[in-house]
Amino acid sequence: MAESPPDAGRRIAALAMEPERFRALGHALVDRLTAELARLAARPITPGETVAEVRHALDAARGLPAQGEDAAALLDQAASLLFEHSTLSSHPRFHGYIAAAPAPIGMLAELLAAALNANVALWQAAPMASEIELQTVRWLADLVGCPAGSGGLLTSGGNAANGMALQLALRARLPDLREQGLGAARFAVYASDQTHGWLPKALEQAGLGRRALRTVASDAQQRIDLDALSRAIAADRAAGVQPLMLVGNAGSIATGAVDPLPALAALARREGLWFHVDGAYGAPAACLLGTPDATLLGAQAAADLPGLREADSLALDPHKWLYAPIEAGCLLVREPQRLQDSYGQRPSYYAAPSHGEPDLVDFHELGPQNTRGFRALKVWLALRMAGRDGYRQMIADDIALARRLFQRVQATPGLEAATHGLSVTTWRCRPAGIDDATALDALNRDILARVQRGGRSYLSPAVVNGRFLLRACIVNFHTGAADIDALPGLVLDAARDCTQATARAR
Ligand SMILES: Cc1ncc(COP(=O)(O)O)c(C=O)c1O
Repeated sequence: MAESPPDAGRRIAALAMEPERFRALGHALVDRLTAELARLAARPITPGETVAEVRHALDAARGLPAQGEDAAALLDQAASLLFEHSTLSSHPRFHGYIAAAPAPIGMLAELLAAALNANVALWQAAPMASEIELQTVRWLADLVGCPAGSGGLLTSGGNAANGMALQLALRARLPDLREQGLGAARFAVYASDQTHGWLPKALEQAGLGRRALRTVASDAQQRIDLDALSRAIAADRAAGVQPLMLVGNAGSIATGAVDPLPALAALARREGLWFHVDGAYGAPAACLLGTPDATLLGAQAAADLPGLREADSLALDPHKWLYAPIEAGCLLVREPQRLQDSYGQRPSYYAAPSHGEPDLVDFHELGPQNTRGFRALKVWLALRMAGRDGYRQMIADDIALARRLFQRVQATPGLEAATHGLSVTTWRCRPAGIDDATALDALNRDILARVQRGGRSYLSPAVVNGRFLLRACIVNFHTGAADIDALPGLVLDAARDCTQATARAR
């Protein structure tokens, strides 16, 4: 018999008041997740389904249910929908984009954080969560070697953290920015052509527009060309445009390139520019500096990474190389007061902001977000569980695997190794007899699509020096040598299938 509406409406509250049911549901879900995670490696990485197939599985056109449904059945069904129709980015052979395997303790942290539901906006509303975020930020700064006294906050990700840096740079240049807006001044922001797409988005959002972007060429190692940069700055000054901010990459998205950060820091100081480092992906590699594993970074990156410590601001994503479940980004700032100066409001509805305690931090005063989740918990727990040494080991392992892949590709006839930087390796298939650049690009595009659809391994693309490349980024503690060693053969198989399909089509 259908429940009467008032009873159905109490279902959600009832779960909180029936501890035995809640516990049984939790156990069932954790048991299910444990089983799913145990068989993750045996599953295809992608279901290879069309949009129509996924929508059919969901019954996407279905309207909002009028009646409530049973929680146990719902959770079970949701787990099936998700594990059977998702691309499994924590699979040991998922090497696309920059998609880290989530630390299991982070998964449980998400449950704990949701149960508390702390709003880490106001210290008063979330005393322990606020203190844990402060400690997490301090530990992240320490992990990568930022100067003592640095501060910051957790964000949704790299785009958010990097975008805030632009706001800080503007506020530092225009003390009246918040009252008067940008005014008539024209600004320019400099970054290499390897910089992630957060920058044009941030410029548009800040009202500077893309015309403020100076895309500086990079060299053969995808590192910003310092001469071209100096020329661009001089040309802007001559044209009455104000150089505002210089962005350095600590681990570019395409190839893991690290810009000459110490030289950029010196240039920014000389020119009076805000120096921001996008270390969303690569900053954690700085934890290897000063250890025997620093050699894994290669001489160039080992010499350049220390320069991130000279930045005015640094973006670092725990949801990338620190294995936090999505979402967790972080902005670190050399002079943390600048966050309060750029975002603080002290609104009357929160009243008594410091409650007489000068040290108290209300995180909503430090960024654009008001209600803020407790993202720090998953990062804090993983940092405590692995410790600095554990992170050094996991990061070193990932870099060693990427290097192994580069060497395996170099040793495989028919493949052409292109780059290895941090934990990113790029290469392409280059069969004997095919030299035409367009044909090679087309072949490698087909190979990528075939590998992605095949579900046995997952790569993503990189275009470097105009060449279309296959790219693997290892940020996964489940990935092992056998997963890496399988890649050259898998790509060659895909190449053969592509060639045969083309021949059949003729
Ligand atoms: C170098 C770099 N910067 C910024 C970002 C943006 O980070 P998010 O996707 O967390 O916003 C990425 C994402 O891959 C990145 O690789």
